Amino acid sequence: QKEVTFIMVKPDGVQRGLVGEIIKRFESRGFQLVGCKMMSPSKEHLEKHYADLKSKSFFPGLIKYMSSGPVVAMAWQGKSVVKTGRAMLGATNPLESNPGTIRGDFCIDIGRNICHGSDSVESGKHEVELWFGEKTEDYSLCTE
Ligand code: CMP
Repeated sequence: QKEVTFIMVKPDGVQRGLVGEIIKRFESRGFQLVGCKMMSPSKEHLEKHYADLKSKSFFPGLIKYMSSGPVVAMAWQGKSVVKTGRAMLGATNPLESNPGTIRGDFCIDIGRNICHGSDSVESGKHEVELWFGEKTEDYSLCTE
């Protein structure tokens, strides 16, 4: 199964030194890292990534927050990685995230929630293509 998801450590996660912790959790769980880069995305790129949220009142603040420092963009692959990855991140609002999840263990503010994960198999493919500029089918590390 070639399911991939896009996981991003947001600027606050990078600044707080949580990149290794987040990678460790996904690797320990058994998922495979098939793409990883540190970058400072442009506002235009972030607006594409968050296009669905354009009408929300928090959108300008979200773009500003996401532009406040470098992010670590990752593509992870494995069985049910989209759904399981979301479960590992915890609820979007950290106050509703269970302890043991990444957000539930490391943050309390929805506007500073450390990480992002694709919310469906389709958006996983779309976001990996948007951030890595490659068709997900091109990854050579695909496993059963
Ligand atoms: P993410 O998983 O990246 O998906 C959309 C992001 O919008 C979310 O995490 C939060 O960072 C942000 N977000 C969602 N709801 C709110 C809100 N009510 N106030 C501020 N930011 C929000």
